[in-house]
Amino acid sequence: MEDRYGHQISYLRLSITDRCNERCRYCLPQETQEWLPREGVLTYEEIIRITRIGASLGVKKLRVTGGEPLVRRGVTGLIRSLHAIPGINDIGLSTNGTLLASPDPDGPPDATMAQQLAHAGVRTINVSLDTLAPAAYALATGRDFLPKVLAGLDAAQSAGIASIKLNCVLMRGTNEDCLPELVDFAHQRHLLLRFIELMPVSRTEVLRDDTFLSTMEARRRLEARFGPLTPRPDFRTNGPASYYEIPGRRQLIGLIGAMTNLHFCESCNKLRLTCDGKLRPCLGSHLEFDLLTVLRAGATDAEIADFFRHVVERKPKEHDFRDGYIPQRHMTAIGG
Ligand code: 5AD
Ligand code: SF4
Repeated sequence: MEDRYGHQISYLRLSITDRCNERCRYCLPQETQEWLPREGVLTYEEIIRITRIGASLGVKKLRVTGGEPLVRRGVTGLIRSLHAIPGINDIGLSTNGTLLASPDPDGPPDATMAQQLAHAGVRTINVSLDTLAPAAYALATGRDFLPKVLAGLDAAQSAGIASIKLNCVLMRGTNEDCLPELVDFAHQRHLLLRFIELMPVSRTEVLRDDTFLSTMEARRRLEARFGPLTPRPDFRTNGPASYYEIPGRRQLIGLIGAMTNLHFCESCNKLRLTCDGKLRPCLGSHLEFDLLTVLRAGATDAEIADFFRHVVERKPKEHDFRDGYIPQRHMTAIGG
């Protein structure tokens, strides 16, 4: 599948639930949530069918997201089925990390969720970690789960997950002073750390001039501590991050400047499937297409394939985040 701008679409992000056990301020700010009703959420059979059809059109890489994907029962079974789809050669998971060290409720009691995921075919895990300071973590996520996340990272590493990344959302007033500490932590643990600019993906106004912290400023703050960072344009991870080397270390860190990097969308190869069955060509655009209704009305595989092509043809050149974008729904339903 190729869009109007020559992007080959080979990456599908699957949000499997809007639910979450945390309440990150930039994502799900309110304490009480109105979750989607169960029947409004794609079943695993539906997700597998859509993915199979996507794979027949050139999707090779998947990322399972949420909400928090590990709160939905049966997730390891879903991943086993996705892994068995011909053409799918890379499965990643984005998680808040809090459940990785817990047992999989659908697996043997002595196996961690991380082990079960590794067996099921997950190759990469991205863990959200905005700060290592317990109080700031609790403030940012609404939960006191930092020790669980740290245990989760250990569990993922001992389960032999090939690639574990840390995602830190930059927030002035919350974590701007903790960035070097995260870099040192990532270095000690051999984890690839990326700093992400806050994006307007929640209906509540979280992105303001006084909360936004640019990747440029993050870089300056890191350079004040570590010395000049060397750009490493040769290193890419399939996403929009730019990588830099910390002087005197082999350590790379990524900067994801969704708001300030004008080339951000240039190599986008993604589509997103929301947990309620909308196919979205871009995180930062209101465009979405209701696949769930079409599917439940009895669409054939060929009709669903046409639906995919139609969405890809409408993929915008770039996101609308810089144009006073106000999302119509929470990120948790779209999938990070
Ligand atoms: N801005 C930037 N990143 C966000 N994430 C969630 N909400 C936002 C936001 N408003 C990130 C999380 C997680 C990934 C799935 O998306 O930190 O790492
Ligand atoms: Fe949950 Fe992730 Fe949203 Fe935080 S960012 S509330 S962990 S889904």
